[in-house]
Amino acid sequence: MITDFSQRLIVQEVSPRDGLQIEPTWVETQDKIALIDQLSLAGFSRIEAGSFVSPNAVPALRDGEQVFKGILRRPGVTYVALIPNLKGAQRALAAGADELNLVMSASQTHNLANMRMNCEASLAAFAETVAFASGSGTGLNGSIATAFGCPFEGRTDEDRVLRIVDAYQELGIRGITLADTTGMANPRQVDGLVRRVLQRVPAADLTLHFHNTRGLGLCNVLAAYEAGARRFDAALGGLGGCPFAPGASGNICTEDLVNLCDEVGIATGIDLPLLLKLSRGLPALLGHDIPGQLAKAGRNCDLHPVPS
Ligand code: COA
Ligand code: ZN
Repeated sequence: MITDFSQRLIVQEVSPRDGLQIEPTWVETQDKIALIDQLSLAGFSRIEAGSFVSPNAVPALRDGEQVFKGILRRPGVTYVALIPNLKGAQRALAAGADELNLVMSASQTHNLANMRMNCEASLAAFAETVAFASGSGTGLNGSIATAFGCPFEGRTDEDRVLRIVDAYQELGIRGITLADTTGMANPRQVDGLVRRVLQRVPAADLTLHFHNTRGLGLCNVLAAYEAGARRFDAALGGLGGCPFAPGASGNICTEDLVNLCDEVGIATGIDLPLLLKLSRGLPALLGHDIPGQLAKAGRNCDLHPVPS
């Protein structure tokens, strides 16, 4: 196991936000809180606990205030809230979010579908949001959705992504997330973009957000890690998806990612047996099977009895 801290892979758990936002069945507020409280015990330093978006756009997360106020705040865990605009920032700060995750797509078409505004309007809203949040002590992260490909426009131009990184930094947004919203990235593309972004953003401030829509999620993680990225979003059970992107499906699965890291000797600090227990409880909570594979297969060390 690699103990050098600079080699550690940071997992940000996003199932309470990306995972639940697309679920068709209402998850009770108390169940959301219980899930986050359990995740807080699993060793994550960062959990995206919800979003403060229009309740008409994402009804599944309309109880963000009650969720943020109801969770037990474990010291050392940063509880992040996704927001699209100033109103979202006001709600998130009032609810006690530690960090705001501002989201805009690299693709104009996807931004119009998801945020109902063009990228220029999103950036103007972010300027207001940064001004509002400055001095509050709240962290700021800027996500670039469809950073690798868009379901409407196809492959995303790298230079456009870099210009958005620059625009975020000029606004004073420190953290940057490159999001592969509909799983269109490939490992070579990831390697190229991550290396270029790391010339602008320190590894400690860069997050990669992959979806496993085309089965390349963990390949892309390894490519990004080899290129120097250290922080990754993942969702318990492989839940997740953008409700405004046709064909969107789950995030990379947290327990599958942690298993990969354990097997190849990259430290994460995450309690894999606890994750498996939580993941195996998801079908009962959500009423359907989950895409993650480790919860079904077990770890390599979970051996079977020898046939008699
Ligand atoms: N939280 C709660 N309500 C909000 C809100 C927020 N952050 N932002 C806007 N609203 C409300 C407005 O107050 C208004 O309410 P009213 O009809 O009662 O007056 C209504 O939503 C429409 O406001 P408007 O500014 O016209 O927004 P819109 O309809 O053009 O939608 C967004 C723009 C950004 C609010 C909406 O598209 C959105 O929330 N998108 C997020 C989608 C998402 O979460 N995707 C997945 C994660 S990437
Ligand atoms: Zn996502």
